[in-house]
Amino acid sequence: MPKVTIQTLRDKRARREPMTFLTAYDYPFAILEQKAGIDVILVGDSMGMVVFGYDSTLPVTMDLMIPHVKAVRLGAPDVYLVGDMPYMSYQVSISEAVRNGGRFMAEGGCDAVKLEGGREMADTIRAMANATIPVMGHMGLTPQAVAQLGGYKAQGRDLETAKKLIEDARILEDAGLSSLLLEAVPAEVGEIITRRSSVPVFGIGAGPHCDGQVLVIHDMIGMFDRHTAKFVKKYREIGAQILEALADFRKDVETGIFPAKEHCYPMPQDVAAELAKLYGK
Ligand code: KIV
Repeated sequence: MPKVTIQTLRDKRARREPMTFLTAYDYPFAILEQKAGIDVILVGDSMGMVVFGYDSTLPVTMDLMIPHVKAVRLGAPDVYLVGDMPYMSYQVSISEAVRNGGRFMAEGGCDAVKLEGGREMADTIRAMANATIPVMGHMGLTPQAVAQLGGYKAQGRDLETAKKLIEDARILEDAGLSSLLLEAVPAEVGEIITRRSSVPVFGIGAGPHCDGQVLVIHDMIGMFDRHTAKFVKKYREIGAQILEALADFRKDVETGIFPAKEHCYPMPQDVAAELAKLYGK
């Protein structure tokens, strides 16, 4: 497939062609997602939870992210690749945000970076865009602010907070945002923001009117059961299939079924006979 660029995403939005967007954290999943024709891959800080087992995304660092981004880029050279800026990699100062965003682009080969927040991020986004770093915004439920939000809850469900999200989206666009991800907001809010936007809008739990739909790969293939959000559709139960394979392997070894003859290296008969003479059978 030809390389997906920001122009590809803009053209698809203009043609109202729904886009697909998944997370990936390693080379094998990246290969599969590119083969499946997924438009956008995010190396998300959700990695902290679904790959490393933390109970939030907060412990994820730049040094943890960069090798995973490199692996995903190697597996999926043609997708639009977004690096997720981890907690405190862009909030402390604008210069740190530009430096860390630049690492995702230069070391990781990303097409864009994603950061969480509303209007308070406008100056940071402007500086990053001026430094040639395309930024995807992330609004609505912003998991890095879980302590402030008091949990992983849907956002923008009353008039005041819905209006704030709609206004913030416009402010960030004016600051130079190149695309937007909306998480866990009512479909009405997703629709209004998408309609008023001039950049591609992707939704994870933001209804059917966004330009594209996002899911976390481990959620949609049934490999992360600790918490399943309302917006997740499970397309397979791969975790259960892996568990069956592991149980079969254990049973085969314990009952002597594995390894069978076809899994063993043959030896010439005369050498085997000589060895038996020397060491017994
Ligand atoms: O880190 C992540 O996986 C995310 C999701 C909202 C896609 O940001």
